[in-house]
Amino acid sequence: MKERTQQREAQRAALFQAEKVAAMDQLLAGVAHELNNPLSAIVGYTQLMLMRSDSGPMAEQLDRVAQSAQRCTRIVTNFRSLARQHLPQRHRVRLNALVEEAVELLACPFRIDNVEVTCWLGKDLPQMWADPHQLQQVLVNLLTNAHHAMRAAAPPRRIVLTTRYETATDRVVLTVADSGPGVPTDLQTRIFEPFFTTKSPGQGTGLGLSLCRGIVEGHGGALRLETTPGGGATFVAELPIGVAPTALEEAPVVEPMRPTVSKTILVVDDEPDVATLLAEALALDGHQVDTAHNGSDALTRLRGRAYDLIFSDMKMPGMSGAEFYRTVAQNLPGVERRMIFVTGDSMNVTTRRFLEETGAASLGKPFGIAEIRRLVHAPPASIGS
Ligand SMILES: Nc1ncnc2c1ncn2[C@@H]1O[C@H](COP(=O)(O)OP(=O)(O)O)[C@@H](O)[C@H]1O
Ligand SMILES: [Mg+2]
Repeated sequence: MKERTQQREAQRAALFQAEKVAAMDQLLAGVAHELNNPLSAIVGYTQLMLMRSDSGPMAEQLDRVAQSAQRCTRIVTNFRSLARQHLPQRHRVRLNALVEEAVELLACPFRIDNVEVTCWLGKDLPQMWADPHQLQQVLVNLLTNAHHAMRAAAPPRRIVLTTRYETATDRVVLTVADSGPGVPTDLQTRIFEPFFTTKSPGQGTGLGLSLCRGIVEGHGGALRLETTPGGGATFVAELPIGVAPTALEEAPVVEPMRPTVSKTILVVDDEPDVATLLAEALALDGHQVDTAHNGSDALTRLRGRAYDLIFSDMKMPGMSGAEFYRTVAQNLPGVERRMIFVTGDSMNVTTRRFLEETGAASLGKPFGIAEIRRLVHAPPASIGS
């Protein structure tokens, strides 16, 4: 009887936990989405100003603004992986190489605190299809946590990293074990909560493990905590090998600059800031640009003039990007193949499916001048088919 009550209590707690995490996910995704447009404007305009200004104190200050804006962009990207809204990219990845890089990256702080790192890396590890940047984040977070946990304890301070391939499950298993104090039993589930930290304000954000779990689960894997024999904490990440991306998803090689051919371009976006920025960047490269603030306005313009390219926002009030695409395909067949979609969340499943089905090209917010140029030079039709 008592056992059953306890079981129910645990179930309730787990449910409550899942709900809290889901609410946090939504909040983070919402914040990231809202920040994307203003950030696009900051990143883009600074780049435009940098291109127009000569070197000097002004350019230096602008460069600082640009760097801070880039940093904000990275934070927003982190938020999105945290909120699991950002599906991992799939590149050929050698996990052992990533492990070695991460250890190398932290070599200096480890040396200062006398942290010894040992790696037992499986020799038969298959290559994986995964997001190297995200996996790197997981490694760095787990290693940094281990380092911080051991700082209070007397040496020896040891971290043991292992990788191995499990034939039975076709999964790669990564473990990060430390000789620190470990995690008290009552905190073992809580440490994965967003914003849960035992560190003093300013020391910890409480986002590390939740980010790590989000990334690993985003890859179809699982991240858990185990107790290291002899005391410390062991984090175990199990990752599937993954599958190769379709040709469309594969990151395009950076195009060398080509002499600009002037094109006629229509920019469709309900956000005046984003539309103006895109239009200005394109005009600066010598293109003839018109803007429209919604789908029906754009249709009128498309009927009146032949455009080489159409940049359209994905999320617009009234007619959405997808609806706009379908309307164009119906009324002006062929013209839809010239469309490039500006997406705030290109990795969102619905958007991704839409892009995959139509073969339309996309530009993710916040974007830089280089990406715009690349898309203008590689017309969408050649990307799609
Ligand atoms: N290797 C570890 N050993 C002991 N405790 C750990 C370890 N890793 C994480 N923790 C605990 O989990 C908490 C949450 O970790 P994390 O999500 O990375 O946030 P933060 O590091 O900012 O506190 C930490 O504050 C710490 O209490
Ligand atoms: Mg941390």
